[in-house]
Parts: sequence; C-alpha cells; structure tokens
Amino acid sequence: MADDTMDKAIVTENLSKKYSDFEAVKSISFSIKEGTIFGLLGPNGAGKSTTIKILTCQFPPTSGTVYIGGLNTVVDALEIKKKIGVVFESQNLYEELSVYENLNFFRRLYNSPKERISEVLKAVGMEKYQKNKVKTLSKGMKQKIMISRALLNDPEVLFLDEPGSGLDPHSAREIRQIILGLKEQGKTILITTHNMEEADFLCDCLAIIHKGSIIAMDTPANLKKKYGEDVLIIKTVIGDIYELSLNTNASSDIFKKLSENNQISLVHSKEATIEDVFIKLTGKKLTDES
Ligand SMILES: Nc1ncnc2c1ncn2[C@@H]1O[C@H](COP(=O)(O)OP(=O)(O)O)[C@@H](O)[C@H]1O
Ligand SMILES: [Mg+2]
Repeated sequence: MADDTMDKAIVTENLSKKYSDFEAVKSISFSIKEGTIFGLLGPNGAGKSTTIKILTCQFPPTSGTVYIGGLNTVVDALEIKKKIGVVFESQNLYEELSVYENLNFFRRLYNSPKERISEVLKAVGMEKYQKNKVKTLSKGMKQKIMISRALLNDPEVLFLDEPGSGLDPHSAREIRQIILGLKEQGKTILITTHNMEEADFLCDCLAIIHKGSIIAMDTPANLKKKYGEDVLIIKTVIGDIYELSLNTNASSDIFKKLSENNQISLVHSKEATIEDVFIKLTGKKLTDES
C-alpha cells in the first residue's frame, strides 16, 4: 500500500467482481478519508451492493484490492470485521424478539458489555423501545435498530447499503440526521444510495457508479459545478415560460429583450442537481435501471 494512503480509512484499488461471465463491478478505485461520509450513487443494478459486500469481507473481489484501516479484506477479514459495522440492504432482524433481545444476541457475538445496548439505542433515539417486539415497529424504527446493531462493536467504519430506501420522508430525514451525528463522532461512513438528495445532503465525496464503473467522483458541489447547469426560469406577462441557462450570451440576449419590453412577470433560478449530473453523464435518469 502506498504511503500517501495511510490517513485513509478505506482504499480500493482496481476492484472488479464477476458473477460467472457478468462483470458487475469494473475496476473501480477510490479512497475514503477518515471521519468523512463517502457515497456510492447509482441506479438499481449499478454494482453498489456488490461493492459493499466486497468491502465488508462477504466475498473476495475477482481482482483488485481493498484496505480497511490498512488491513487487506482478503487476508485480514477477521480483524477487519471487529472494526466495522454493516447495515445491509434488507432488514434482517428477528421479528418475534424484542429490540433488547435482538441487540443482546449480537452483543454477545462481539463480547461487548451489556451497557452498550442502551448506548447504541440512545445513539438512534430508540431507548424507549427496548421491550417492544421488532414486528410491532415501523420500517423507519426498524432501520434505526439496524443501525444501532451495527454500532454494538463501536466500529471505526460504518457501511450502510441504501439506508433511506423505502422509508417515508420523515423517517428518511431522521436516518440522515443519525448518520450525520455518527460522522460528528468521528466515524468513517460509506453509504450507497440511488437517492440524489440523500447523496447531496450527506456526502463529503460522491462517486457516481453506472454499470459497474465509477464515471465521476468529487464533492457534490464540485460535481454540480462541473456537470450541472444553473437555470433561470422566466415567466412572461402572457404566460410563456423560458428556461435559460445562466452564463450564455444567447440567454442574456433573450433576458435583455424581454425586460426591455416589460414582458417579464416572474423570475426564479433553479440550481443544478445531482440528478442533472447523472443525466449529463449517462443520458439516463437515476430512476432508470442501469
Ligand atoms: N449473486 C449474484 N449472481 C449473479 N448476478 C448478480 C448477483 N448479485 C448481483 N448480481 C448482478 O450484478 C449487478 C449489480 O448488482 P448489485 O451490486 O446488487 O447492484 P446495486 O446494489 O447497485 O443495485 C446486477 O446486474 C445484478 O443483477
Ligand atoms: Mg443494492
């Protein structure tokens, strides 16, 4: 491993994964700085879960290397598993057991002290629900329990596969706040998402993944600056609507003409979004299959 990667919590070099002949992940490389949130954003089938499974030592890559805290995921899997927490894509709690019983089961696997259960429940605002059976909880509450379970071993690095997926907007916002809170505690976090707002809001660095390849990677702000376009929307007095790209001569000519003739009734601007970036790069919407 190169020396300049030592302050990185995760370093991924030319990672590829084939399922039989199908290459689901194609030579991706990225590194994640300690204490930051990194996002893998892409549509269904892009290769996000496959990447997370390799990074969390579920299976080895077909080629390439991953280091977590300087340890190799193939050679040092047992050591790595002690230092990471994972929230998988589908919820897999014991529905008939209480919240406490679910967490206690995993706590024993990790040999964490009993007090840890109330600590992790507090971290997700669920300490009042210890005695409730999981099956009585809402999907958003279950997701909080999934996150608290991943915190039992006080991991340095957290992996969250689509943490806000399928949740109502209120729960999704709560989960985002929990994730930000964990970053404030110094954890390094990798999330996958197909939700551009979630990616934009949470991530310090964002990799856009499409058909197994990373096609762009930067801060959300830089991605929008580079690939997106801020637009001026003008409504005229007779009800016509113009969408003008900012900073082009043609746009300023139209704007000038309309305003000289007192044709403008309303002006507002629309900032570039990560969705625009994705469309610009792929010609597709994020909601399309990859
Ligand atoms: N166990 C598997 N066997 C064969 N193909 C798989 C398997 N898991 C995933 N795939 C395929 O690999 C591609 C990437 O899947 P996945 O990593 O789950 O994407 P994402 O999480 O971005 O939706 C998809 O085309 C998917 O059908
Ligand atoms: Mg997935």
